[in-house]
Amino acid sequence: MPVEAKASGVSPIDRTRVKELTERELARLAERTPRSRERYERAVRVMPKGVPSSFQENDPWPIYVERGEGSRVWDVDGNEYVDFHNGFGVMCIGHANPVVGAAVKARVDAGTHFAAPTDGSIAVAEELSRRFGLPQWRFTNSGTESTMDAVHLARGATGRDVILKIEGSYHGHHDAVMVSVYPPLEALGDRDDPVSVPYGAGYPRALTELTRAVPFNDAEALAAVLAKLEGRVAGLIMEPAMMNINIVPPLEGYLERVRELTAEHGVKLIFDEVKTGATIAYGGATARFGVKPDMVTLAKAVCGGYPGGAIGMTEEIARLVADGTVHQYGTFNGNPLVMAAAEATLTRVLTQDAYPRLEAANESLKAACQEIIDRYRLPAYTEGMGAKGCVVFAGERMREYRDYLTKVDGELSTLAWVYHMNRGIFMTPGVEEEWTLSIAHTDADIERYASAFEAFARDLVAA
Ligand SMILES: Cc1ncc(COP(=O)(O)O)c(C=O)c1O
Repeated sequence: MPVEAKASGVSPIDRTRVKELTERELARLAERTPRSRERYERAVRVMPKGVPSSFQENDPWPIYVERGEGSRVWDVDGNEYVDFHNGFGVMCIGHANPVVGAAVKARVDAGTHFAAPTDGSIAVAEELSRRFGLPQWRFTNSGTESTMDAVHLARGATGRDVILKIEGSYHGHHDAVMVSVYPPLEALGDRDDPVSVPYGAGYPRALTELTRAVPFNDAEALAAVLAKLEGRVAGLIMEPAMMNINIVPPLEGYLERVRELTAEHGVKLIFDEVKTGATIAYGGATARFGVKPDMVTLAKAVCGGYPGGAIGMTEEIARLVADGTVHQYGTFNGNPLVMAAAEATLTRVLTQDAYPRLEAANESLKAACQEIIDRYRLPAYTEGMGAKGCVVFAGERMREYRDYLTKVDGELSTLAWVYHMNRGIFMTPGVEEEWTLSIAHTDADIERYASAFEAFARDLVAA
């Protein structure tokens, strides 16, 4: 029987057992979701994989959701779940939030789209300036658009073409950032000079070459690349804490050094706060880590469940937009409905005092999971901040993407996911994700998560 122990003091993991449990639990999930299967069979005739976005696909089929309220969602089979997926980290306000709902309903009655500015966009831009300390803002319709515009602005501001990004990070699906997103181990190249690997087909090679990857948490590697590409790099786009390979926080002093280096080389620093912006602190990662970038990109939780995004920028960069040097456009930018949702979300729901509460709930969930990890001696640890957290199935802490590829146990991540789903915990499918808490999550919800996780741990290490 293939049994292995990754580190001393850790329970041996029986791979045959992992396989059997995974098969058993996937069969149980299939039994519990026959109507999702029906929806899937219908949907796949008109949508590839039966889903509107490939991030929603899932085996054996996607779970089609009917409705949500507070911390709960119900699927089309009537199964009730506590939602820790929260729409990929968007629904920090809880589902069907009445405050945001009332603001949106009022806006519906007053007209939803003019392609002319409304008071809502001014109020949201003012609030974002207060939170992130960047003076000027523009709006978009998604995280992809926010990072795309930020890349254009960095190029426009510097007259340079090369963009640096962090190896193993996702910033949306436009050409400049669909490079070295989840490159396979054998394609990575040297750590000091990683290969630019296109993420899928459809991206011209000539553009891929303009994006270069550097490892996270290694300022010296960045310094070397900046020296090598002196005068060619327009911007560095990065998540201040990586949140698409589970969660990897920045090491002490790393972001400060990145700020110094980018300033020294005339490179615009873009913090992609699409995930962290409204979830890990009132002023996002920018405030939490105390390092100020030239631009911040936002989307997801800032608009309270509506499709919007924003870019914050310095006065210097804003001038390029104002004088027409860089074109920043969009029919739906600052859409009144989205702005009504964002204003209510930011000024009435996710207010300053929401963040200590999210943090406390997250700490108690992390502590409950860590206690189970310790008791069952699992090769895992907990990570997280603000409303976001995860169990990382690795025997030691990750610092960067190469650790994720070599240390994280994808089989255990998948097994934990299906255990949760079968025990009323709605979680993001995929090895790389994390949970997001909302203001509606209660202590009982957290206990329910811990109890599903304990069922997984108990069955996994049972003799
Ligand atoms: C860090 C980050 N940036 C950008 C995006 C793209 O956002 P969207 O899916 O709204 O286009 C994502 C999406 O998950 C993300 O995680």
